[in-house]
Amino acid sequence: MNPLNHVAIIMDGNGRWGLKNKNSRNAGHKAGLITVEKIIKATLKNNIRYLTLYAFSTENWKRPKKEINFLFNLLENFLTNRIDELHKQNIKLQIIGVKNFSSKLNSLLRLAEKKTYKNGKLQINLALNYGSKFELMSAFKILKKKKEKISEKNLRKYLQTKDIPDPDILIRTGNTKRLSNFLLWQLAYSEIFFERKLWPEFNEKDYNKIIKKFKNIKRNYGNI
Ligand code: IPE
Ligand code: IPE
Ligand code: MG
Repeated sequence: MNPLNHVAIIMDGNGRWGLKNKNSRNAGHKAGLITVEKIIKATLKNNIRYLTLYAFSTENWKRPKKEINFLFNLLENFLTNRIDELHKQNIKLQIIGVKNFSSKLNSLLRLAEKKTYKNGKLQINLALNYGSKFELMSAFKILKKKKEKISEKNLRKYLQTKDIPDPDILIRTGNTKRLSNFLLWQLAYSEIFFERKLWPEFNEKDYNKIIKKFKNIKRNYGNI
């Protein structure tokens, strides 16, 4: 059975779910947040150490302002209302991506990271304004500036996921099979699961099914 340390998720399909069921993309984002809470609980139950959630990409700034504001308001409320509970559950919250949001959101995010920094049951990496190409370019630029040798080991030091193992599993919901600039380096050997269901429809049972399937996959890493 494969050990499972790290699950990464591209939480896609909120907008379509919202339009179909409530005639509003934003209602889909609200429903998606309920799935986030369910999946956090299930991750704790499964004793998984790292969970990385793609919540906003560097490309998502192309969306209408109204949708972007709604998303960040949702996040602000989530942090304000839920951070104590996450802290009590021994969860560490880390942001990957560049924090260039409103000063209110930036400080809420910093506060949440600081408060939960020492927690050790589960680390949640929330990918916000995250883009893998930007992350890699930044890492290469640091290597160049410091005149360090270009090696995998040195490059890894400057990735935002530097202290954690690469994802064992990548899940993308929403019936779309692409990576959308997510963890391009770190996913080199991850087992990938594309889910038909939209993110608000995805549930603990679907998640556990994937985990069970993963545990029995033969991971070769080039070997036989
Ligand atoms: C959520 O899904 C992902 C975010 C960027 C918040 P989408 O909003 O991309 O939903 P679809 O793909 O349009 O249905
Ligand atoms: C990927 O979803 C980003 C997040 C889930 C945050 P998108 O819906 O933005 O991806 P594309 O644009 O369809 O590739
Ligand atoms: Mg989408």
